Amino acid sequence: MTTEDAVTVEAVESLRDTADPRLRELLGALIRHLHAYARETRLTRSEWEAAVAFLTETGRTCTDTRQEFVMLSDVLGLSTLMETVHGHGGPGTTESTVLGPFHMTESPVRELGADIDLVGTGEPCVISGAVRSTDGTPLPGAVLDVWQADPHGHYDVQQPGHQPPGNGRGLFTADGEGRFRFRTCVPSAYPIPTDGPVGALLKATGRHPYRPAHIHFIVSAEGHAPVTTHIFVAGGEHLDSDAVFAVRESLVKDFAATDDPALAEELGMPNPFRHARFDVVLERA
Ligand code: BEZ
Ligand code: FE
Repeated sequence: MTTEDAVTVEAVESLRDTADPRLRELLGALIRHLHAYARETRLTRSEWEAAVAFLTETGRTCTDTRQEFVMLSDVLGLSTLMETVHGHGGPGTTESTVLGPFHMTESPVRELGADIDLVGTGEPCVISGAVRSTDGTPLPGAVLDVWQADPHGHYDVQQPGHQPPGNGRGLFTADGEGRFRFRTCVPSAYPIPTDGPVGALLKATGRHPYRPAHIHFIVSAEGHAPVTTHIFVAGGEHLDSDAVFAVRESLVKDFAATDDPALAEELGMPNPFRHARFDVVLERA
């Protein structure tokens, strides 16, 4: 065994008394992969120091309303890999995608049909759909937690004092037939925050920071596995180059101009209006 291999073996063996077998497995694999990385790339001392400084700065950038480590995981594709490995609800279920770093405050409870755009600067639209189980059974009382950025690409928590708290957010309960609907503004593509180490990493690698226009959802219903997902605006920019690799074809929806005077009147919308339909299918838990 080479001296290089010996240190890996010694470090892994130092975990032998770890009481929790899963912790031992995770740390052992982490040591083996980190050592293999350093060997494969012939990592230099100054590169190791730069990596330590980068991670230190990533930690320093985190606040109660900013999670730079989650963003790092996102731009490295790790968050999407996690969804790919664990997010499958089985055939026919709504695909999951990344949570992102801005689901950090409780969404205000709102009535079906309410407007989550409290500022009213964007192009109004309606999102409606139904939540059902994989066998088609409607799921009355399903809960939809919704959040999105304003038309300029900022979440409420990024602009305290400028946006009212809860702008772009809502917690909706589906009706007796599992149906839901709410008003909002058509979302825009936006850059993820670039003024920290993750932004520097994107710049150094020649990547743009944009996410295609989207609305986030966490949908849950009794007896079913919840899904964390988005809908994306069909035809929008950056659908093929999302900075966090989160686009799924099944989640891209038309925000079509719709002529439906009855629904327009019910929702207090001008007719015709932009309307996206999103049906959610959950798997029994
Ligand atoms: C978001 O969609 O909110 C988001 C996801 C990943 C990184 C930054 C923002
Ligand atoms: Fe987002």
